[in-house]
Amino acid sequence: MAKVSCKLAVSLLLIVCGIQSSIAEKLTSSIVATVLRQSDKNVIFSPWLLTESLMHLHLAAGGKTAHEINKVLQLNGKLKSEIFANFSNYQESINISESQTLHMANRLFLASEINLSSKYLQQEKEIFPHSSQSVDFAKSSETIRIINNWIAEESNGTITKLVEQLDAKTKALSLSAIYFKGLWKYAFNRNNTKKSIFYIPQKTGEPRQIEVDMMFRRGLYRLDMIDKLDAMSLEIPYDSSQLSMVILLPKTVNGINKIISNLNQMDIDEISPKTNEMYVQVYLPKFHLDVELSLNEALKSLGLVEIFQNANFSAMTDSKVDLKVDKIFQKSIIEVDEEGSANVAPQDLGFSFLRFPIEIVIRIDHPFVFLIKDHDKIYLAGRVTME
Ligand SMILES: *[C@@H]1O[C@H](CO)[C@@H](O)[C@H](O)[C@H]1NC(C)=O
Ligand SMILES: *[C@@H]1O[C@H](CO)[C@@H](O)[C@H](O)[C@H]1NC(C)=O
Ligand SMILES: *[C@@H]1O[C@H](CO)[C@@H](O)[C@H](O)[C@H]1NC(C)=O
Ligand SMILES: *[C@@H]1O[C@H](CO)[C@@H](O)[C@H](O)[C@H]1NC(C)=O
Ligand SMILES: *[C@@H]1O[C@H](CO)[C@@H](O)[C@H](O)[C@H]1NC(C)=O
Ligand SMILES: *[C@@H]1O[C@H](CO)[C@@H](O)[C@H](O)[C@H]1NC(C)=O
Repeated sequence: MAKVSCKLAVSLLLIVCGIQSSIAEKLTSSIVATVLRQSDKNVIFSPWLLTESLMHLHLAAGGKTAHEINKVLQLNGKLKSEIFANFSNYQESINISESQTLHMANRLFLASEINLSSKYLQQEKEIFPHSSQSVDFAKSSETIRIINNWIAEESNGTITKLVEQLDAKTKALSLSAIYFKGLWKYAFNRNNTKKSIFYIPQKTGEPRQIEVDMMFRRGLYRLDMIDKLDAMSLEIPYDSSQLSMVILLPKTVNGINKIISNLNQMDIDEISPKTNEMYVQVYLPKFHLDVELSLNEALKSLGLVEIFQNANFSAMTDSKVDLKVDKIFQKSIIEVDEEGSANVAPQDLGFSFLRFPIEIVIRIDHPFVFLIKDHDKIYLAGRVTME
């Protein structure tokens, strides 16, 4: 499932993606805002994998359960046939160059006593790259091994442990994981990385200071002000793909909560800077985050309730067992360092004395939000506090 490339003609793709992008985009800003609010420490998750998980559950659901998913995905009462007509094309439109290490996997694990209808199995095969898997939750150590082997294989060994314990009464688990290590279009020079202060706001008094490895590059970037968020938006492109990291840096040390609470008023598209490239001195901390997150609470607060209590999965099974999704769970890993493609940018001047008429310094030295995105999907979103 790693490194998916697109098999369709470009023109067709644009049409299909253009129409479908509304699904992910609308979902995304409200879900990102809700999930990032869950903690005031580091949080990362994959909005794209969550969309895929919810779409998968949508296929299985009926009645009020389906209705609630419809609302969270903001599909506004569209028929299932309409919703799924374009979804497999949309998934295939993921176009990420081989130079990026992106592993993503997503699967619905179901208790083996649930008999799946052949109609559901057929539809699932047509729409999703991976079908759901029946496991025996009562044999927990065996099932834990099955799940962890699956993720190790899907992620090429970058993620080896997704679950540690299981409840024997589990009926359904929606599990996904993402590992991302990008290669910048223009590398940060390792020689410029220095120990530097990162400020952590406190409830009262002065911010606490910690020491981080701060990377530096001076070069051309897109940079914009977003008044609604009281933040700067900086785009740092990855090598040979449409992928980039968009950083939202609050103007004040403790401004991250304002970003997060106003994010849902924005289209994801508005967040990427639209300016021309300009000379910028970027100070960006190196970081490696590894976060496990149950999305149940965030989804409940968005209105997904029945699925966690007494779900209607009539589109998937006739079994008369009481069903519910026990957990929608993600593990996400991101590594951010200096590495970039071998290309040396002509404008890469390091610390040289040469100055340009307008040159902006952006020092990412207090908690910020980032998105790893292409034109219509957000693979990772996070709040980084560095602690
Ligand atoms: C479950 O959904 C199906 C299909 O929408 C509906 O016919 C059925 O009445 C629902 N079951 C319950 C218990 O609500
Ligand atoms: C799916 O694509 C068709 C035509 O390409 C379009 O008319 C329809 O609105 C799309 N459905 C959704 C849910 O976007
Ligand atoms: C998988 O991992 C191996 C060893 O770490 C590496 O050599 C290989 O390039 C990786 N394959 C993919 C597709 O990432
Ligand atoms: C980093 O510094 C070393 C030692 O001064 C030098 O040999 C090397 O070329 C420098 N690397 C870059 C990318 O500038
Ligand atoms: C994939 O992305 C590359 C780099 O942005 C682009 O050149 C190529 O045309 C894209 N391929 C498709 C099928 O969209
Ligand atoms: C599943 O199907 C089998 C064989 O058709 C049947 O014996 C069993 O009762 C079904 N299980 C449930 C939970 O409906």
